Amino acid sequence: MTVEDSTLRVRVLGAGIIGLTCALELGRRGHRVEVVDPAPGSGASWAAAGMLSPAGEAWHGEADLLRTGRRSADLWPGLAQDLGVPLRPVGTMLVAHDAGDADDLGRLLSLLTDHGEPLERLDPRDARVLEPALARGCAGAALLPRDHSVDPRVVVRALRRRCRVVPAATGPADVTVVATGTTLPPPFAHLVRGVRGEVVRAHCPDPPRRTLRGWVRGTPVYVVPRPDGEVVIGATQSEHAAPPVVTLEGLATLLAAARTLLPGLDRATFAEAVARDRPASVDHRPLVGATHLPEVLLAAGHHRHGVLLAPLTAVLIADQLDGGASEPAWDPRRFDAVHPPTGAWQTAPSRSVPQ
Ligand code: GLY
Repeated sequence: MTVEDSTLRVRVLGAGIIGLTCALELGRRGHRVEVVDPAPGSGASWAAAGMLSPAGEAWHGEADLLRTGRRSADLWPGLAQDLGVPLRPVGTMLVAHDAGDADDLGRLLSLLTDHGEPLERLDPRDARVLEPALARGCAGAALLPRDHSVDPRVVVRALRRRCRVVPAATGPADVTVVATGTTLPPPFAHLVRGVRGEVVRAHCPDPPRRTLRGWVRGTPVYVVPRPDGEVVIGATQSEHAAPPVVTLEGLATLLAAARTLLPGLDRATFAEAVARDRPASVDHRPLVGATHLPEVLLAAGHHRHGVLLAPLTAVLIADQLDGGASEPAWDPRRFDAVHPPTGAWQTAPSRSVPQ
């Protein structure tokens, strides 16, 4: 490519945290970028709690997330500073309610130890010194000092101020980056399904100081505090073909678990309940990079980890357009043999992406 050719007209479909972060990085590298979305920031980013928590979200069989998640988490301080948004750098506490929950906690801590993740095991008394709002007598606790949080709504607002977002495409593009969450256009629609998550927001006079991730009689729950006393309590997880709606069962489950860990939540005032679908791929790994169509890249399928993985996704997409390296575990073409693309791509851009 000539120097002039290296500036591409890039259309990003989707103004959630993934699409906007890609747009910011592509613009920074000199490309001309337009983000297309009739309802910016209203998908999964609107519900997300904003945990930058590769260790807390790790589980057996998904240890790859520790590597990619940590790589992306390390990019977050720079992104937050660039956007002028606060990052809450106080770590995450894991809490087990009963003996069975302590088994789950123990399994996670073994996995993290095997992968060299720093953590501090806490006895119940030390846990309450760090988090005085915790219920007495938990069955186990640990501190993950590197798992922080951001407020995705604040991040998306800041990103929208830095990106050109339009409700419909305005002209030709050389390259399209598809970042439309759970609803990918053909021929990619089959690659992602929605996994419903419900969250509750409340204002709490006695919030935790840091993110708490707990197990309560087998139910996982997290409580993420914001600087203004808001807490985000999440999240249910269910496979669902119907549109995401808040159910009383979901609310009851989340609130029962959260109130068991933090009895002071009984004095919190209800603010909002939201349901959105998480965009999950078949193997729960993201789909980021080149596709079988030379002019189309995917930035999709981030499931539970869109906020955490946004900065790494943006760097990988921009690297790919600049002819650089990709992340093999996230290659969208890994499913092409078993799940061949179906349907025709509607947009007809005018130039190919460097492969
Ligand atoms: N990352 C948290 C969730 O998806 O609920």
